[in-house]
Amino acid sequence: MSWYIEFSGPKFGYMDYVYFLRQLDSARLSGETRLEVDFGKVTFFYPDGMAPFVATTRHLVNNGWGVGVIPPRQKDLIDYWQTVGWLAGIRDEKAPLGTGSTYVPLTPYTSGEELNSFIRSALDLMSKSQAFSDGVLLAFEWALNEIADNVLVHAESSEPGWLQMTSYPNKNEVEFVVVDTGRGIRSTLSPAFPDIDSDIGALMKAIEKGTTRNREIGQGNGLSGTLRIARSAGGWANLHSGRGLLRLMEGEPQSGEDAPHQGVVVTLTLPTSQPIDIAEALWGHVPVPAFEMEYLGDHGIEFTLGAEATNFGNRSTGERLRFKLRNIMAQHPDEPVIVDFQGVDLMSASFADEFIAKLVKELGYVAFFGRFRFRHLSEFSAQTLDTVIGQRMSV
Ligand SMILES: Nc1ncnc2c1ncn2[C@@H]1O[C@H](COP(=O)(O)OP(=O)(O)OP(=O)(O)O)[C@@H](O)[C@H]1O
Ligand SMILES: [Mg+2]
Repeated sequence: MSWYIEFSGPKFGYMDYVYFLRQLDSARLSGETRLEVDFGKVTFFYPDGMAPFVATTRHLVNNGWGVGVIPPRQKDLIDYWQTVGWLAGIRDEKAPLGTGSTYVPLTPYTSGEELNSFIRSALDLMSKSQAFSDGVLLAFEWALNEIADNVLVHAESSEPGWLQMTSYPNKNEVEFVVVDTGRGIRSTLSPAFPDIDSDIGALMKAIEKGTTRNREIGQGNGLSGTLRIARSAGGWANLHSGRGLLRLMEGEPQSGEDAPHQGVVVTLTLPTSQPIDIAEALWGHVPVPAFEMEYLGDHGIEFTLGAEATNFGNRSTGERLRFKLRNIMAQHPDEPVIVDFQGVDLMSASFADEFIAKLVKELGYVAFFGRFRFRHLSEFSAQTLDTVIGQRMSV
């Protein structure tokens, strides 16, 4: 016999993961160690539900459970499970390497090196996927580093942390989900705070500024700062550890106890269309943007096209590079910008229009050419730019 869990659909999000946990709790109470989980009726999957489901499934299997998963029916949904890493996660196969233009697949990590390279490629992807209002990319980067690092510092798990990231250009949102299946917040905090007597009590304590299990290790800014960022942005967050569950919905908190997650889940969704006052959210502290810093050279922002793409023939590449450059420029408003065309043999007019001419139009001639310089621009590419800028400015 196995315990049958069916999702009624059509969507699967965080509260459906919580429903799964409730069922798991019941199965455990009845002495069951086998689950059959049926996604047949679900037609839309959110990463904030699926990433913790995959991590918990692996944790159960590692602890002797049998978990059968009935995947969604439609072929395109199975393909989606494949590309975003959920299928590989459930089956304990290697995570897919590629990233799409709007997602980084669910990926396990066990070391700081793995995490850094993952975060690097994820931020690169995010920065190319849409235009961020001031402060949003930096806030996202800060929170992501804090939350993902907490797993390595505190979870004390033999199992990996899991990280997934998604950009929603149509909704103007970005999201990350970080999951671990380690000791959980109550267990790490209790020795230093013996008064804690519940999972939700531990969680509420952990989100106060300055709460850390060990002053030698941390300062207690990670969780509280992340939630302050979510609130000031009017975003969404879930923080779940053991039975403690805190949800922020458009900045409004709800907290209580529910079915237990072994370890910690943190999800953060930020609207990108409104600026975030990061100094205000982080108690006057403005973090150094590691990712955007890489582009700062002796003479300002240095943006080398050959390092960013291999093809300069189409609009979508041009748009992605414009988003990225725009997002980097927003972090360094006083720096000149050098665009290096080395290695660009053939640049199409549509690429040039999307990448450069739209920026000229947005900033105006004087502001643009006051700030930009081109390096290694071939005569042919210069002519292409002249043409598309002229056309763009006249519409
Ligand atoms: N993934 C996790 N697993 C177990 N416990 C955690 C996890 N994340 C956070 N905690 C607990 O919550 C406490 C607060 O976390 P928070 O990130 O706010 O501060 P910190 O990590 O201690 O310090 P800082 O982030 O400033 O370096 C931690 O000290 C730890 O006890
Ligand atoms: Mg921390």
